[in-house]
Amino acid sequence: MEANEKRYDEMTYRRCGKSGLLLPAISLGLWHNFGSVDVFNQFIKIAYTAFDKGITHFDLANNYGPVYGSAEENFGQILKKGLGKYRDELIVSSKAGYDMWPGPYGNWGSRKYLMASLDQSLKRMGLDYVDIFYSHRPDPQTPVEETMGALADIVRQGKALYVGISNYNDVETKAALDALKAYNTPCLIHQSKYSMLERWVEPKLLPLLKDEGVGLIAFSPLAQGLLTNKYLNGIPGNSRAAKPSGFLKQNQVTEVVVDKARRLNGLAAQRGQTLAEMALAWLLKDERVTSVLIGASSTEQLLDNLKALQQLAFTNDELAAIETILR
Ligand SMILES: NC(=O)c1ccc[n+]([C@@H]2O[C@H](COP(=O)([O-])OP(=O)(O)OC[C@H]3O[C@@H](n4cnc5c(N)ncnc54)[C@H](OP(=O)(O)O)[C@@H]3O)[C@@H](O)[C@H]2O)c1
Repeated sequence: MEANEKRYDEMTYRRCGKSGLLLPAISLGLWHNFGSVDVFNQFIKIAYTAFDKGITHFDLANNYGPVYGSAEENFGQILKKGLGKYRDELIVSSKAGYDMWPGPYGNWGSRKYLMASLDQSLKRMGLDYVDIFYSHRPDPQTPVEETMGALADIVRQGKALYVGISNYNDVETKAALDALKAYNTPCLIHQSKYSMLERWVEPKLLPLLKDEGVGLIAFSPLAQGLLTNKYLNGIPGNSRAAKPSGFLKQNQVTEVVVDKARRLNGLAAQRGQTLAEMALAWLLKDERVTSVLIGASSTEQLLDNLKALQQLAFTNDELAAIETILR
């Protein structure tokens, strides 16, 4: 693989909180479309196209697939086939926190699980270190000091450069950030579900992260496809909602949501954008959002989504019209 020489010309990079790390405004997640049920030639093309367009950040987790672990294995193959020669231009993240292997040590937030899981992830990807390692979700049964202590030690061991947390609410986040500070390992980033249809981060989490100098990366910014033109006229056979392995279920494609998407789609058209482009631009208008973490099942989708960066500004009238639709 020879990467596009102009790969840095069009992407915007944003500082992650108060850290030294810049992330692309659009990052690529490998939760779906990169598992053992998917087609290698298809997803290697998506990964290479992403890198050629300046997407330096690839997000994984131990259990992405299906089967569990297969997205990391496949990403390891993509690295081996050529992308790996650009390792110093890549930000690779992984996580542990959800169900991964049987027994009491393959889930949640113990030191035992996090340490073992990252070792497995590194092996699957053929890497010596990840750039960001996350606690994938809070564990109500494990002291936050233990989970954060494990993350801090992982950095000391050189197996991750930065640490992050995901799916922690504002109270859990404050406790985690304080614990990490006590270990002199600042939290780099919070990965949270955030889209026009899922706005829980707005009242408390975003202001807290801003105060604490921690970045936010928004996952499922297209609500798994609901904020695109995909479901405007029914559920297509090649969609996530139609696939047995997809996390978007058909009963989530409700008439209420589709009606909102149709009206948003009309507004996007008036702005000269697709709905997907507008949904991403709407998140990125807030500078506290470091990056939007998209998924893509084709290079066409990826290229469409990248066009969001060409128009991030909204008029007050457009914002008000969006609020009316989302209400
Ligand atoms: N931390 C966590 O707990 C957590 C949880 C979920 C996700 N994540 C991360 O966030 C990443 C993204 O999540 P996501 O895949 O749900 O993101 P998303 O961007 O909201 O949804 C991606 C899906 O939307 C559809 N799509 C994307 N662009 C499109 C376009 N331009 N036109 C039409 N359809 C389009 C595709 O669906 P089809 O497949 O139907 O074509 C694609 O697979 C994951 O890969 C993972 O890295 C993290």
